[in-house]
Amino acid sequence: MSAPAAFTAHPTAVIDEPCFIGEGTRLWHFAHVCAGARIGAHCSLAQNVYVAPTAVLGDRVKVQNNVAIYDGVTLEEDVFLGPSCVLTNVSNPRSQVARRALYEKTLVRRGATIGANATIVCGITIGRYAFIAAGAVVTRDVPDYALMMGTPARQRGWMSRHGHALHFTAQGEALCPESKLRYRLAEGVVRGVDVAEDAPLPATLAVGAVAYRQFKQSQPS
Ligand SMILES: CC(C)(COP(=O)(O)OP(=O)(O)OC[C@H]1O[C@@H](n2cnc3c(N)ncnc32)[C@H](O)[C@@H]1OP(=O)(O)O)[C@@H](O)C(=O)NCCC(=O)NCCS
Repeated sequence: MSAPAAFTAHPTAVIDEPCFIGEGTRLWHFAHVCAGARIGAHCSLAQNVYVAPTAVLGDRVKVQNNVAIYDGVTLEEDVFLGPSCVLTNVSNPRSQVARRALYEKTLVRRGATIGANATIVCGITIGRYAFIAAGAVVTRDVPDYALMMGTPARQRGWMSRHGHALHFTAQGEALCPESKLRYRLAEGVVRGVDVAEDAPLPATLAVGAVAYRQFKQSQPS
């Protein structure tokens, strides 16, 4: 059996052993992975990313510059963390009170996006393919495919797996303008019709060709 392809790390990255880093994962300048951390395959950790000892990252997670993934945080497969977004693990931190045994858990489910500079207050779950807008402060659980904006974050609609607003008909049907994949909204829950939430995207739908604003101009507001 041949050895699995290794991960790659810039010489300035710090990797404390033992930890697990999956094949094809890339660590960029000044990334720091603590002993005990688990990082899946084909992830990208950009400049100055910190991964704490009990943090867990699934496969194909992309983390942009200056993000700290603290103890208690789990990122499922295909999560995107925008630059300088903030994850937390204590709701009521006080320098004089040690709460290292009380870290609160945050779960970011498959395919979710957290926008640049957004803050996620701990102890919550961000649903599958949810989209947290840049600068939002998220204080509660977020449904699958929900678009959350503002401070505190409020739901402003639904986003497709490709990151486009979904406009549902009265019958609860919507089409993503980019992928043409169909979605259904029933009893407040969005589900993919053509591709199940846990299934990977077909390769032909995994590369963007047209910019967001061009799609938006062709959509109803
Ligand atoms: C969520 C997002 C896609 C919405 O973009 P958009 O479609 O251009 O939004 P719109 O121009 O239609 O704005 C609709 C309304 O929301 C407001 N709005 C847009 N983005 C907002 C944000 N991030 N936070 C708060 N309000 C926002 C607009 O001001 C507008 O308000 P109005 O109706 O009162 O005029 C975008 O704001 C965003 O956050 N993208 C993430 C970018 C990012 O973090 N990338 C990281 C990788 S580099």
